[in-house]
Amino acid sequence: MTRRSYRFPDGFLWGAATSAYQIEGSPLADGAGPSIWQRFAHTPGMMANGDTGDVACDHYRRYRDDVRLMRALGLQSYRFSINWARVLPEGTGRVNPRGLDFYSRLVDELLEHGIAPNATLFHWDLPAALDDRGGWLNRDSAHWFAEYAQVMFRALDDRVTRWTTLNEPWVVTDGGYLHGVVAPGHRSKYEAPIAAHNLMRASGAGIQAYRAHGRHQIGVVFNIEPKYPASDGAEDQAAARRAHAYMNQQFADPALLGSYPEELKEIFGDAWPDFPADDFRLTKQPVDFVGINYYTRAVVRHDPAQYPLRAAPVRQPNRTHTETGWEVYEQGLTDTLLWFKDRYGDVPLYVTENGAAFYDPPVAEGEVLEDPLRVDYLRRHLRALHRAIGAGVDVRGYYAWSLLDNLEWSLGFAKRFGLYHVDFATQKRTPKASARLYAQVIASHGAAL
Ligand code: NOJ
Repeated sequence: MTRRSYRFPDGFLWGAATSAYQIEGSPLADGAGPSIWQRFAHTPGMMANGDTGDVACDHYRRYRDDVRLMRALGLQSYRFSINWARVLPEGTGRVNPRGLDFYSRLVDELLEHGIAPNATLFHWDLPAALDDRGGWLNRDSAHWFAEYAQVMFRALDDRVTRWTTLNEPWVVTDGGYLHGVVAPGHRSKYEAPIAAHNLMRASGAGIQAYRAHGRHQIGVVFNIEPKYPASDGAEDQAAARRAHAYMNQQFADPALLGSYPEELKEIFGDAWPDFPADDFRLTKQPVDFVGINYYTRAVVRHDPAQYPLRAAPVRQPNRTHTETGWEVYEQGLTDTLLWFKDRYGDVPLYVTENGAAFYDPPVAEGEVLEDPLRVDYLRRHLRALHRAIGAGVDVRGYYAWSLLDNLEWSLGFAKRFGLYHVDFATQKRTPKASARLYAQVIASHGAAL
């Protein structure tokens, strides 16, 4: 019997991802303004264990060492995000050259090591000064974002060849405006759709600005979690359709089709606004790629008590679940990529995040940390991705989440997703077995799978 080959197409890009507030630390250094995450994390009761991003992985000061870790993996690309308030402390207007300089030095360091930067403009850390002006509820947010984006394009587009406007706008609106579990911590069914809409207007305005100023590629990143009905019953099927529209189409549809799925009106009822038709000219801008973050699936049943979806996830027995409670279900990645191509056509895709939090054993000096569950997760998902490419989906690259253990937002440092273990008391980095596997996969272009 011949072994199946998992070699990936030539030119397929291997990377890893992080985000600013989760790794940088020094949030107010060198003239930076506070972000909403700085505020949220310092609000008593919001963060597990009282954790904050004050130090995190101290990447702001150790970025050179971290680029060496990327080099050791053989990464070809690194996806990071820019903290808007470092560059524009008030969100608009005055530029802080020292904040800008950090990202410029990071990009130079990456390029010196042959690693292509993929810069995300917004990974959730809105400048607090803009939140004081209404944040994403203010229609001007699209202009604020375009102004900031232009500052970044002017400063870095000579060296950054892949840009991302937003990371996972769904989490910002569902967690930040509907359920209050992430910054800015609001709970309002009236606010959530407005924030969602303005985020997509902002993404469109950023892409428009790029066409005027940029020379390379720009896209947007969505989290997609496929929804499977718990039964063949009509109610469960409808519940899965609602959950799918809410999480997977609410952002991709306005960006790529210029409309919203009908189910959203049904979900939000009187809280669903009548958005001006003209807005969709702004939200629907041609993108050079779409990034998909994939972690898990949900099996969904009808549940009238669950507001506003009237749908509830059903935990699957006898399956492996990660420390964040997510089922390991690699077929969902293949399904997601096929669905995306089917619905939105042949837009070039990247898997911009994929990874898992598991307990890691104590680290012994000088040794690789064994993390068999994460190794298994990585292998399964890369194989599932290979299957999607084999079925004709145009996927151009893969970014593991994450390079380092880091601040898992309000869940704190206890949820470890890193290929490198971080000892947060000493800042020592130790490779895990998953890092070793990933380095072999990169070196063999997938054949080591
Ligand atoms: C998605 C987010 O983009 C990232 O910030 C987060 O840490 C991972 N998923 C894991 O939850």
